[in-house]
Amino acid sequence: MNADHQAAKPDLTIRPANPGDLPVLAELEKDGSGLPWSLQSLAQDLATNPAARYWVACGPDGRPAAYLACHVVLDEADLVNLVVCSEQRRRGIGRRLLVHAQAQLKADGVHKLFLDVREHNEPALRLYRESGFREVGRRAAYYGDTGETAIIMLKEFRQNDDSIG
Ligand SMILES: CC(C)(COP(=O)(O)OP(=O)(O)OC[C@H]1O[C@@H](n2cnc3c(N)ncnc32)[C@H](O)[C@@H]1OP(=O)(O)O)[C@@H](O)C(=O)NCCC(=O)NCCS
Repeated sequence: MNADHQAAKPDLTIRPANPGDLPVLAELEKDGSGLPWSLQSLAQDLATNPAARYWVACGPDGRPAAYLACHVVLDEADLVNLVVCSEQRRRGIGRRLLVHAQAQLKADGVHKLFLDVREHNEPALRLYRESGFREVGRRAAYYGDTGETAIIMLKEFRQNDDSIG
Protein backbone atom coordinates (compact mmCIF):
# COMPACT_ATOMS: atom_id res chain seq x y z
CA MET A 1 0.00 0.00 0.00
CA ASN A 2 1.48 3.39 -0.91
CA ALA A 3 1.56 6.65 1.08
CA ASP A 4 -1.46 8.11 -0.76
CA HIS A 5 -3.59 5.20 0.29
CA GLN A 6 -2.43 5.62 3.88
CA ALA A 7 -3.22 9.33 3.82
CA ALA A 8 -6.71 8.69 2.45
CA LYS A 9 -7.43 5.89 4.93
CA PRO A 10 -11.05 6.35 5.98
CA ASP A 11 -12.22 6.25 9.57
CA LEU A 12 -13.86 2.82 9.73
CA THR A 13 -15.67 0.78 12.32
CA ILE A 14 -15.97 -2.92 11.56
CA ARG A 15 -18.65 -4.85 13.44
CA PRO A 16 -20.95 -7.85 12.97
CA ALA A 17 -23.97 -7.04 10.81
CA ASN A 18 -27.42 -6.97 12.39
CA PRO A 19 -30.96 -7.04 10.94
CA GLY A 20 -31.09 -3.23 10.92
CA ASP A 21 -28.30 -3.25 8.30
CA LEU A 22 -30.27 -5.35 5.81
CA PRO A 23 -31.65 -2.53 3.62
CA VAL A 24 -28.12 -1.15 3.15
CA LEU A 25 -26.74 -4.64 2.47
CA ALA A 26 -29.37 -5.08 -0.26
CA GLU A 27 -28.28 -1.76 -1.79
CA LEU A 28 -24.65 -2.85 -1.65
CA GLU A 29 -25.60 -6.11 -3.37
CA LYS A 30 -27.16 -4.20 -6.30
CA ASP A 31 -24.02 -2.06 -6.45
CA GLY A 32 -21.65 -4.98 -6.47
CA SER A 33 -22.76 -8.00 -8.33
CA GLY A 34 -24.36 -9.15 -11.55
CA LEU A 35 -26.48 -11.56 -9.55
CA PRO A 36 -27.41 -9.60 -6.42
CA TRP A 37 -28.99 -11.25 -3.42
CA SER A 38 -32.41 -9.81 -2.64
CA LEU A 39 -33.26 -8.25 0.70
CA GLN A 40 -35.33 -11.34 1.44
CA SER A 41 -32.45 -13.74 0.70
CA LEU A 42 -30.06 -11.71 2.83
CA ALA A 43 -32.57 -11.55 5.69
CA GLN A 44 -33.18 -15.27 5.57
CA ASP A 45 -29.48 -16.09 5.52
CA LEU A 46 -28.58 -13.70 8.33
CA ALA A 47 -31.51 -14.70 10.53
CA THR A 48 -31.82 -18.44 9.99
CA ASN A 49 -28.52 -19.83 8.73
CA PRO A 50 -26.40 -20.85 11.72
CA ALA A 51 -23.34 -20.96 9.44
CA ALA A 52 -23.67 -17.30 8.42
CA ARG A 53 -21.19 -14.70 9.66
CA TYR A 54 -21.59 -11.15 8.37
CA TRP A 55 -19.52 -8.05 9.06
CA VAL A 56 -20.02 -4.45 7.98
CA ALA A 57 -17.50 -1.61 7.68
CA CYS A 58 -19.09 1.70 8.65
CA GLY A 59 -17.87 5.21 7.98
CA PRO A 60 -18.05 8.10 10.47
CA ASP A 61 -21.79 8.48 9.74
CA GLY A 62 -22.36 4.90 10.97
CA ARG A 63 -23.70 3.73 7.61
CA PRO A 64 -22.20 0.51 6.22
CA ALA A 65 -19.92 1.29 3.27
CA ALA A 66 -19.10 -2.38 2.74
CA TYR A 67 -20.05 -5.84 3.88
CA LEU A 68 -18.53 -9.28 3.89
CA ALA A 69 -20.47 -12.53 4.32
CA CYS A 70 -19.13 -15.98 5.14
CA HIS A 71 -20.55 -19.38 5.82
CA VAL A 72 -18.67 -21.43 8.39
CA VAL A 73 -18.91 -25.19 8.78
CA LEU A 74 -16.57 -26.75 11.33
CA ASP A 75 -13.04 -25.57 10.46
CA GLU A 76 -13.83 -24.44 6.91
CA ALA A 77 -15.45 -21.24 5.69
CA ASP A 78 -16.73 -19.91 2.38
CA LEU A 79 -16.53 -16.23 1.66
CA VAL A 80 -19.87 -15.77 -0.09
CA ASN A 81 -19.65 -12.04 -0.76
CA LEU A 82 -17.59 -8.93 -0.27
CA VAL A 83 -18.89 -5.62 -1.58
CA VAL A 84 -17.65 -2.07 -1.10
CA CYS A 85 -20.01 0.70 -2.28
CA SER A 86 -18.85 1.97 -5.64
CA GLU A 87 -18.17 5.54 -4.42
CA GLN A 88 -15.72 4.30 -1.78
CA ARG A 89 -13.70 1.70 -3.63
CA ARG A 90 -9.92 1.71 -3.86
CA ARG A 91 -9.52 3.30 -0.42
CA GLY A 92 -8.46 0.15 1.40
CA ILE A 93 -11.90 -0.70 2.82
CA GLY A 94 -12.19 -4.09 1.11
CA ARG A 95 -8.73 -5.12 2.28
CA ARG A 96 -9.38 -4.01 5.87
CA LEU A 97 -12.71 -5.83 6.02
CA LEU A 98 -11.11 -8.98 4.60
CA VAL A 99 -8.27 -8.82 7.15
CA HIS A 100 -10.79 -8.36 9.97
CA ALA A 101 -12.95 -11.28 8.86
CA GLN A 102 -9.92 -13.56 8.51
CA ALA A 103 -8.73 -12.72 12.02
CA GLN A 104 -12.18 -13.44 13.46
CA LEU A 105 -12.53 -16.70 11.55
CA LYS A 106 -9.07 -17.82 12.55
CA ALA A 107 -9.80 -17.02 16.20
CA ASP A 108 -12.91 -19.19 15.88
CA GLY A 109 -10.80 -22.15 14.71
CA VAL A 110 -11.27 -21.88 10.95
CA HIS A 111 -8.35 -23.40 9.04
CA LYS A 112 -9.46 -22.98 5.43
CA LEU A 113 -11.22 -20.08 3.74
CA PHE A 114 -12.59 -20.72 0.24
CA LEU A 115 -14.14 -18.28 -2.21
CA ASP A 116 -15.11 -18.09 -5.83
CA VAL A 117 -14.51 -15.10 -8.05
CA ARG A 118 -15.39 -14.26 -11.64
CA GLU A 119 -12.50 -14.82 -14.03
CA HIS A 120 -12.68 -11.18 -15.26
CA ASN A 121 -13.07 -9.52 -11.86
CA GLU A 122 -9.57 -8.10 -11.81
CA PRO A 123 -9.96 -5.88 -8.69
CA ALA A 124 -11.16 -8.82 -6.60
CA LEU A 125 -8.62 -11.25 -8.06
CA ARG A 126 -5.79 -8.85 -7.23
CA LEU A 127 -7.08 -8.28 -3.71
CA TYR A 128 -7.39 -12.00 -3.03
CA ARG A 129 -4.02 -12.92 -4.56
CA GLU A 130 -2.28 -10.16 -2.59
CA SER A 131 -4.04 -11.43 0.54
CA GLY A 132 -2.56 -14.90 0.15
CA PHE A 133 -5.35 -16.79 -1.62
CA ARG A 134 -4.31 -19.23 -4.32
CA GLU A 135 -6.28 -20.74 -7.16
CA VAL A 136 -7.33 -24.33 -6.47
CA GLY A 137 -9.86 -24.93 -9.23
CA ARG A 138 -12.20 -23.55 -11.88
CA ARG A 139 -15.88 -24.04 -12.71
CA ALA A 140 -16.65 -23.26 -16.33
CA ALA A 141 -19.73 -21.16 -17.19
CA TYR A 142 -20.55 -20.87 -13.50
CA TYR A 143 -22.21 -17.44 -13.49
CA GLY A 144 -25.63 -17.43 -15.10
CA ASP A 145 -25.62 -13.77 -16.19
CA THR A 146 -22.32 -13.65 -18.13
CA GLY A 147 -21.33 -17.29 -18.44
CA GLU A 148 -17.99 -16.46 -16.83
CA THR A 149 -15.82 -19.13 -15.30
CA ALA A 150 -15.52 -19.17 -11.52
CA ILE A 151 -12.02 -19.25 -10.10
CA ILE A 152 -12.02 -21.16 -6.82
CA MET A 153 -9.49 -19.81 -4.35
CA LEU A 154 -8.30 -21.02 -0.98
CA LYS A 155 -6.35 -19.58 1.91
CA GLU A 156 -5.16 -21.85 4.67
CA PHE A 157 -4.54 -20.34 8.08
CA ARG A 158 -1.63 -21.48 10.17
CA GLN A 159 -2.91 -21.38 13.74
CA ASN A 160 0.54 -20.62 15.18
CA ASP A 161 1.12 -17.72 12.79
CA ASP A 162 -0.28 -14.31 13.83
CA SER A 163 0.11 -12.72 10.39
CA ILE A 164 -3.12 -12.60 8.47
CA GLY A 165 -2.94 -9.91 5.73
C1 LIG B 1 -13.30 -6.11 -5.02
C2 LIG B 1 -13.65 -5.01 -4.02
C3 LIG B 1 -14.35 -5.59 -2.82
C4 LIG B 1 -12.32 -4.37 -3.55
O1 LIG B 1 -12.63 -3.44 -2.50
P1 LIG B 1 -11.82 -2.06 -2.38
O2 LIG B 1 -12.15 -1.45 -1.08
O3 LIG B 1 -12.08 -1.23 -3.58
O4 LIG B 1 -10.33 -2.59 -2.42
P2 LIG B 1 -9.07 -1.95 -1.68
O5 LIG B 1 -9.08 -0.47 -1.83
O6 LIG B 1 -9.00 -2.50 -0.29
O7 LIG B 1 -7.88 -2.53 -2.56
C5 LIG B 1 -7.14 -3.66 -2.16
C6 LIG B 1 -6.40 -4.20 -3.37
O8 LIG B 1 -7.32 -4.77 -4.29
C7 LIG B 1 -6.85 -4.52 -5.63
N1 LIG B 1 -7.79 -3.62 -6.32
C8 LIG B 1 -8.86 -3.00 -5.78
N2 LIG B 1 -9.51 -2.28 -6.72
C9 LIG B 1 -8.82 -2.47 -7.86
C10 LIG B 1 -8.99 -1.99 -9.18
N3 LIG B 1 -10.01 -1.19 -9.53
N4 LIG B 1 -8.11 -2.39 -10.12
C11 LIG B 1 -7.08 -3.21 -9.81
N5 LIG B 1 -6.86 -3.68 -8.56
C12 LIG B 1 -7.72 -3.31 -7.60
C13 LIG B 1 -5.51 -3.84 -5.49
O9 LIG B 1 -4.54 -4.85 -5.43
C14 LIG B 1 -5.66 -3.16 -4.15
O10 LIG B 1 -4.45 -2.88 -3.54
P3 LIG B 1 -3.73 -1.43 -3.80
O11 LIG B 1 -4.81 -0.40 -3.73
O12 LIG B 1 -2.73 -1.34 -2.71
O13 LIG B 1 -3.17 -1.53 -5.19
C15 LIG B 1 -14.51 -3.90 -4.67
O14 LIG B 1 -13.93 -3.54 -5.90
C16 LIG B 1 -15.95 -4.30 -4.92
O15 LIG B 1 -16.81 -4.17 -4.04
N6 LIG B 1 -16.23 -4.81 -6.15
C17 LIG B 1 -17.60 -5.22 -6.51
C18 LIG B 1 -18.04 -6.47 -5.77
C19 LIG B 1 -17.08 -7.62 -6.03
O16 LIG B 1 -16.66 -7.86 -7.15
N7 LIG B 1 -16.76 -8.35 -4.95
C20 LIG B 1 -15.92 -9.52 -5.00
C21 LIG B 1 -16.78 -10.74 -5.10
S1 LIG B 1 -15.79 -12.23 -5.18
